[in-house]
Amino acid sequence: MAHATALAADDILEYLDAHEKKSMLRFITCGSVDDGKSTLIGRLLYDTKLIYEDQLKALEADSKKMGTQGEKIDFALLVDGLAAEREQGITIDVAYRFFSTEKRKFIVADTPGHEQYTRNMATGASTADLAVILIDARKGVLTQTRRHSYIVSLLGIRHVVLAVNKMDLVDYSKEVFEKIETEYRKFAAPLGFQSIVAIPMSAFEGDNITTKSANTRWHTGPALLPYLETVEATSALTDKPFRLPVQWVNRPNLDFRGFSGTIASGSVGVGDEVVVIPSGKRSKVTRVLIGKNEVDRAGPDRAVTVTLADEIDISRGDVICAGNAPCEQTDQFAAHILWMSEEELFPGRQYLLKTANRMVPATVTELKHKVNVNTLDHQSGKTLELNEVGFCNLSTGHPIAFDPYKDNRETGAFILIDRRTNTTIGAGMIDFSLRRAQNVHWQDLDIDKSSRAALKHQKPCILWFTGLSGSGKSTVANLVEKRLHDLGRHTYILDGDNVRHGLNRDLGFTDEDRVENIRRVGETAKLMVDAGLIVLVSFISPFASERRMARELVEDGEFLEVYVSTPLNVCETRDVKGLYAKARRGEIKHFTGIDSAYEAPQNAELTIDTSKIPATAAAEQIVEYLQQNGYLAG
Ligand code: ADX
Repeated sequence: MAHATALAADDILEYLDAHEKKSMLRFITCGSVDDGKSTLIGRLLYDTKLIYEDQLKALEADSKKMGTQGEKIDFALLVDGLAAEREQGITIDVAYRFFSTEKRKFIVADTPGHEQYTRNMATGASTADLAVILIDARKGVLTQTRRHSYIVSLLGIRHVVLAVNKMDLVDYSKEVFEKIETEYRKFAAPLGFQSIVAIPMSAFEGDNITTKSANTRWHTGPALLPYLETVEATSALTDKPFRLPVQWVNRPNLDFRGFSGTIASGSVGVGDEVVVIPSGKRSKVTRVLIGKNEVDRAGPDRAVTVTLADEIDISRGDVICAGNAPCEQTDQFAAHILWMSEEELFPGRQYLLKTANRMVPATVTELKHKVNVNTLDHQSGKTLELNEVGFCNLSTGHPIAFDPYKDNRETGAFILIDRRTNTTIGAGMIDFSLRRAQNVHWQDLDIDKSSRAALKHQKPCILWFTGLSGSGKSTVANLVEKRLHDLGRHTYILDGDNVRHGLNRDLGFTDEDRVENIRRVGETAKLMVDAGLIVLVSFISPFASERRMARELVEDGEFLEVYVSTPLNVCETRDVKGLYAKARRGEIKHFTGIDSAYEAPQNAELTIDTSKIPATAAAEQIVEYLQQNGYLAG
C-alpha cells in the first residue's frame, strides 16, 4: 500500500493515529449488469494500491484464463469473488469492501444489478451515505437506473454520483455525457437528492477515476476518488438526539441495574437527563460503561450499559432517549415497504415486525398504493410482489418506539418476518404515526367478559371448524349447536356461506380475500366470546397463518380448533352444491382443493372425519370434549 508505506516508514504510531482519526465514507455502487461496476471497484482498489502482490499475480493469471478483456487486466475478476458470478458473469450478492486513502476510509457495498436482486441492493443502501450510480454511456438512463435511484432515495441516501462509464466507447463525447446528465437530473428531481455530481469516466481505461483525464478536458467537475475523499456526505448520527434501544436489562446483583444496547444515534454522558419510551418516565444518567470501563460519554454504534438515578421500570424493547427530544410511539403507522419474498404480501395476514430491539405481531391493514419504481407513479393494488414497493398502513400488537425514517434510519426502520418460515420478507421505513392511533383509546367498561359469562353459567370459547368445502363442517356445527342449546347454553354459529352474504359480501376467493375473510370473522368471534357466548365458526379457513391469528386474538384455552379432515375425494363425490363439478370444468376459479391450497392443521384440539363416523357421532364427540374440559361446568 503506497501511501501506507511512505508514512509508516517515518513513524508507525503517528500513521496509526492519523488513520484512526480519518473520516469514514460508506457508499454503494449500483448499476446494470454490464455497466462496469465491478471493474470500477477493481480499478479503485488497484489505483489506490490496495492490491497485494500475490493478489495481483493471481489476477493477471485469472485475466488470461477467463477474463473478458484479452491481454489486459480484467479488474472485475478482482471483485467478483463468488464462483457463481464468475461463471454467469453477473454479481449476485452484496459484498462489502474496505479501503482507505491518505484522506479517508471507505466501505463500499457492491450490489447486484439484476432486477430480482433489488433486495440485496436495499441491504447495501441502508447504511450508505452516498450512491455511485453507473450508466453505460452507450445506453444512457435505463429502467434499472431509475429503479436503483428510487430505492437509493427511499433508503435515505441523499448524495449521488452519476458515473457515466465507458466514455472511451463513445469517443469521450461531451454531447453524449451532457444528454445523459440532463435526462437523469430531470428524472431524479422529485427524489430530493441533496447533491448529484455527474462524472464522465472509463473505469477500464482509468479516465477520471483517481485523477482528471486528458481525454475529457471539457469536464469541469472532479474525478471520482478526489470527490469521494472530500464530499461532505457522512450521516451525522452524532448530531441526532440520543437513542438507546434497550437490548437487555443487566442485573448481576442487587446493587447494580444497568440497561444495555447499542447507541443508535446521539451520545450519552453522565448527568444527562433521559426519558424512557413508551413509559415516559424520566431520570438522570449516573454511569456509562463500555464493557467494564466507565466513560464520561459514548456516541453512536457503541455498545454501552447505562445506569440511572431513579428506580424506574425499563425492559427490553424500550428506548432510552434524550430528555428534551424523545422519540414517538405508536401501534398504527404509515410506512414504505419493500417486499422481498416470492410469496406476495397479504394485507390482513399477521407477520412479525422487528425493530432495533423489539419483535411484535403486525399486520398491513391497508395497501394505500404501490410505487412504480421506474416511473415513480402511484398505482393501486391489492398485494405486493417480490421487489415491489408499497406505501402501507400497519398495525402492531403492541406499541413500538420509533422515529420517522427520514429523521433516523436506525430507529425508523423495521423488517417483516414470516411467522411460519422465520424468513425476512420485507423491509420497512416508517413515515408517520397514524393520527387515529393517538386519538382512539380503550373505553373502560364495568361489565366484563367474566361477568357476562357467569350470568350464562358457561365458559365462553370458539369452536373453530376448518376443512374442505363439503367436509361436513356446517352439518356437524349445526348438530353441536342443537345439543348445546338443549343443554341450555348460549351459542352462535358464524357460517362461511352465511357471513359471506352480509359482513363479508365484498370478498371473493382470492388468497388475499380469504385472509381478510378470516380476519373479520376472527374479530367477530372474539367479540362474541367477550359477550360470553360459545361461538361455532364454520369456515374453510385454508391458511394456517390466519387460523393462528384467530387463535391468538383470544385467551389461552378459548380457541378450540376442530379439523374436519374428510378427504377431498369424499367431499368431491358428495358435491352437495355442485361446486366441485363446476370447479373441475373451470367455471369456478380458486376452488379449495382443486386450484387453491388447503393447509391442514398440525395441532388441532379435535380431528373428525365424517367419512368414517356419522355427523351425529362427531357432534357427540365434540360436546363430550367440552364437558370433560370444563367448558360446560356451572
Ligand atoms: S374461506 O376459504 O374464505 O374460509 P368460506 O368458508 O368463507 O371460505 O366460504 C366457503 C364456501 O363458499 C364454500 O362452502 C362454497 O360453498 C363457497 N365457494 C364458492 N366459491 C368457492 C371457492 N372458489 N373455493 C371455496 N369455496 C367456494
